[in-house]
Amino acid sequence: MRKKVTLITGALGEIGQALIEALTQDISTRILTLDIRDADTTHPAVTHLKGDILDSGLLSRIISEYEVEAIYHLAALLSTRSEFTPEAAHKVNVEGTLKLLHLAADQSEWRGQPVKFIFPSSIAAYGLPDLETKAKYPTVKEHEWNTPGTMYGCNKLYCEMLGGYYSRRYRQLSEEHPVMLDFRCVRFPGLISAFTVPSGGTSDYGPEMLHAAAKGEPYACFVRPDTAIPFMAMPDAITALLQLAAAPRESLSRLVYNVTSFSLSAEQIRQLTLQAFPNTQITFEPHLKRQGIVDTWPIDLDDSAARRDWGWKPEHDAERSFRDYLIPNIARRYRGA
Ligand code: SER
Repeated sequence: MRKKVTLITGALGEIGQALIEALTQDISTRILTLDIRDADTTHPAVTHLKGDILDSGLLSRIISEYEVEAIYHLAALLSTRSEFTPEAAHKVNVEGTLKLLHLAADQSEWRGQPVKFIFPSSIAAYGLPDLETKAKYPTVKEHEWNTPGTMYGCNKLYCEMLGGYYSRRYRQLSEEHPVMLDFRCVRFPGLISAFTVPSGGTSDYGPEMLHAAAKGEPYACFVRPDTAIPFMAMPDAITALLQLAAAPRESLSRLVYNVTSFSLSAEQIRQLTLQAFPNTQITFEPHLKRQGIVDTWPIDLDDSAARRDWGWKPEHDAERSFRDYLIPNIARRYRGA
């Protein structure tokens, strides 16, 4: 008999680490983690595999040994990194997702019931043409401005569509089990964790500023002070993934949902950071390319569909995120630095 597992790809990334922490609270969930890096896992419910999602042999070995019930497909190259090597990013972000979707569809057929495929997409799926338009349409709905300017954004938007394609294709193949692949996706804003720092993203100036300040290091922000995009504290991001995964299928009116918590300008993040770490030196040195990317992302997301369909509601607004979660945990982390 194969062991039943929830598979997490890109498990050692920021979202992965926080998700594992949350999922291991429930001892009945056995977790198989996959990442290109080694993990020193000690939790009895977690088995780690070091490997590449593009390795078909490895994916075959996974299904020969495990019955995959759900997949959190988190592996991806983020937006700034993807711009250095767009073709490599396409390989990981698109071909990797295609392989995982295929694996999920196969598993669904074999089990006779749908595998849940949870996919984090991003504000990068949007692309506003210029700052005037960005100011004129500050809050975007899922179907608006789907014209991403980055390789990462294109990859995310297309993979959302692939998820829809595979869901429909398998629905047609089976009358008995109407949805053979249960694809569910959230479009995240920039995420900020108190325990990890991102790498290779373009919303990274938020978390980098805070972590640098807590370490007592000066920080040069790579976007202009007036640059505004939406953000979310990591615990809310994990809640969003888990709530969406748990929602009854019939309550979901769409496959892709915006979720957000608060929108701040880089200057507002600077002010909140200075309140907690007043001696920090935070300056602005906009980087042309990275500024160009963030300028195409919306100021805010309309997440009313998620609120209506599966009861989404972030616990942390900007004030609570900084006061209760970010500042105390980050300060503790670097105490003595
Ligand atoms: N945080 C991501 C990035 O900056 C956006 O999804 O690439």
